[in-house]
Amino acid sequence: MRPAALVFDAYGTLFDVHAVVAVADELWPGRGSELSRAWRAKQLEYTWLRALMDRYEDFAAVTEAALRHSCAALALDLGPVHIARLMDAYRRLTPFPDVAATLDRLKAFRLAILSNGSPAMLEPAMFNAGLDGRIRDVLSVDAVRTYKPSPRVYRLAVDRLGLPAKAIGFVSSNGWDAAGAKAFGFTVFWINRNGAPLEELGVRPDHVIETLADLPALVGA
Ligand code: LAC
Repeated sequence: MRPAALVFDAYGTLFDVHAVVAVADELWPGRGSELSRAWRAKQLEYTWLRALMDRYEDFAAVTEAALRHSCAALALDLGPVHIARLMDAYRRLTPFPDVAATLDRLKAFRLAILSNGSPAMLEPAMFNAGLDGRIRDVLSVDAVRTYKPSPRVYRLAVDRLGLPAKAIGFVSSNGWDAAGAKAFGFTVFWINRNGAPLEELGVRPDHVIETLADLPALVGA
């Protein structure tokens, strides 16, 4: 079935979160990718923990807290200047190379973002990546003050787009997000860029593709 609209995850799907490696390597030579991996993992862990604890703080606060913890765990000296530079890098993440051209090919669809990011993080990131004119709706978990994979988050897209979940194509590179979206009822496209195994969560994405550039052909664009 051709989806009536396409909703994209942001971090890891459109924006390359590991684009921060270059800045981190300048601050701590040779340690950038190790920090970037630890930071991303801790950032996601904190979103899940805060959702379970019912103690929402926005994604910028969670991201900064995860940075502090990761640096402490890796014994990297972190001061206010380091924090400012890395958080700034997060607002300027580069998009994956196929993003702009793919979105242009999908122009006939209503396009949206549904992200853990707060509006104050997403807006500059989209502007800096040149995506602001290409996507009509930017939906943030901030509206419901919890995190993916809470069904309350995915429902934001149903409510905004006025479409049944199945008619919405949800696109994510994050396997756990693809699982959460499928459990909610979306038609799910998992972009498995790195050949990761399927998450063992009792649901399967409807489609698995290797790059975003494979999406237009699959949805008949
Ligand atoms: C987001 C997270 C999954 O953008 O990175 O929602």
